[in-house]
Amino acid sequence: MCGIVGYVGGRPALDVVVDGLARLEYRGYDSAGVAVLAGGRLATAKRAGKLVNLKEALAEEPPPAGTLGMGHTRWATHGPPNDRNAHPHTDCTGTVAVIHNGIIENFAALRAELEDAGHKLRSDTDTEAVAHLLEDELAAVDGNARDGLAEAMRRVCRRLEGAFTLVAVHAGDDDLVVGARRNSPLVVGVGDGENFLASDVAAFIEHTRDAIELGQDQVVELRSGGVTVTDFEGRPAEVTEYHVDWDVSAAEKGGYDYFMLKEIAEQPRAVADTLLGRIGADGRLHLDEMRITDRELREVDKIIIVACGTSYHAGLIAKYAIEHWAGLPCEVELASEFRYRDSILSPTTLVIAISQSGETMDALMAVRHAREQKAKLLGICNVNGSTLPRECDGVLYTHAGPEIAVASTKAFLTQLVAVYLIALYIAQVRGTKWGDEVFAMVQLLERMPEKVDKVLETMEPVRELARSLAGERCVLFLGRHVGFPVALEGALKLKELAYMHAEGFAAGELKHGPIALIEQGLPVVVVVPPRARDVLHDKIVSNIQEIRARGARTIVIAEEGDASVQPYADTLISVPAVPTLLQPLVTTVPLQVFACELATAKGHDVDQPRNLAKSVTVE
Ligand code: M6R
Repeated sequence: MCGIVGYVGGRPALDVVVDGLARLEYRGYDSAGVAVLAGGRLATAKRAGKLVNLKEALAEEPPPAGTLGMGHTRWATHGPPNDRNAHPHTDCTGTVAVIHNGIIENFAALRAELEDAGHKLRSDTDTEAVAHLLEDELAAVDGNARDGLAEAMRRVCRRLEGAFTLVAVHAGDDDLVVGARRNSPLVVGVGDGENFLASDVAAFIEHTRDAIELGQDQVVELRSGGVTVTDFEGRPAEVTEYHVDWDVSAAEKGGYDYFMLKEIAEQPRAVADTLLGRIGADGRLHLDEMRITDRELREVDKIIIVACGTSYHAGLIAKYAIEHWAGLPCEVELASEFRYRDSILSPTTLVIAISQSGETMDALMAVRHAREQKAKLLGICNVNGSTLPRECDGVLYTHAGPEIAVASTKAFLTQLVAVYLIALYIAQVRGTKWGDEVFAMVQLLERMPEKVDKVLETMEPVRELARSLAGERCVLFLGRHVGFPVALEGALKLKELAYMHAEGFAAGELKHGPIALIEQGLPVVVVVPPRARDVLHDKIVSNIQEIRARGARTIVIAEEGDASVQPYADTLISVPAVPTLLQPLVTTVPLQVFACELATAKGHDVDQPRNLAKSVTVE
């Protein structure tokens, strides 16, 4: 995915655009570029690498000052991340500039057609074709930019296949930015005498918190004095306005070296916020936003969870909670696999899609597939105004606030809270748990922020341990029951941040193969269930002994006071005692801290790990 900013108003556009890009850099950081329009002259600048490279280039050779501009930070799909492939791309005349997020699937055919017609394309990107198509359509609509650019964009969009957010400007109009979207995010920021376009509100939150959610297949004309939205045919479109309920400080580092550190530290608050307003004075859960009636919920006979990456791990934990509390069969699917097999869905299947960003294309495609099979759809999402909630029947928002670091942390914990709430709510509605049992669990959930806080207070030994392991090549993670997805999550964090071989296993599977990996000194992190789950607990203690006997260096995460693991733990990380199903809320945190510290010790930028983007808006 890429980050996009557009601006028209009274301020120096370059400053607004570059500041906006800095807030969107988490979306892609292979290259960055800007276009500014001043006095009928369209100036562009672009550089491979992080935004800092572009900033240096702009400082050396500042473009003319203008009040209209756009910028792009790229996560490369077509063509290597070099200066030439960086956006913006221009047409043959140099009067139209375009930036793009997504993939234009029919670009090869379009490119061939353009080249046959004599256009000279200079990059390897799919995006550049759009600039040249706009050039042709502008000539065809025979208008000046004021009338023509939006119409040309609509005509071009009708020819494109795939996913795209496009933003274009024309040297002939210094009060017009045109945007378009299909399957890829774009929001409008509504200011006073100025307006903004961006992939994410974080880009303009400093200037306005009033936003417009653009729908699917819409084109927006942005002028300093107003915003017009149509569909691809030019018919006026209905839009949804909303107010962003967080401010600029939430999108800044707040004294931390990395967003990831800040986001880890914010977890107690994020967990508390996600519970807020969902528990009535009567102790019952109220999840009205779900927009699925109690009658419909009673009719549900199967739940399928679809998600990717860390959100998938939240789904794996949800399965345990849903089956235990709500008594419903629950399957968990990688969203990217879901629509490629013959999953059995019906109108009584509830599909729950979990996505922090609400823009992950694999998750969106899974939701659309489930919709075709007439299943009920519920989203769990962190980003208001994103696509996923719009495509589901109902949504439960996690109130984590903006998550900027690529590695998901606070979003994961709040996703867990959301799935616990849903599982308990279904139990309440279907009567699979007594009211007082649901209430008792809700009360325990309400105490989780303080437990997470307690974990955070005791993380210094984990940081020390992480630094001491910076030279290792591999770390394994073991868990059972809900500790298994936690092990997977610990391994994912280490892979994406420290670029180390890390794998999570169900501890019971060890003897079926993975135990062959154990060698002298290999660090193995083991997530131990609470002692109250005696059989599980004892089995994992045996697993620890087995790997230790074969030379593993054991790092054991167990509830405080668990003396039985002490003799077998080379390092013991104690977490507060909580019920088994809620334990991932406390056992995940040390693994986040561990991965973050180890990666930092290796000199990696934990906010922007190599090859990754915050949300993957392509399949
Ligand atoms: O926005 P989403 O929750 O749909 O994103 C899903 C994954 O791409 C995401 O969780 C990814 O695995 C994170 N980088 C993990 O830290």
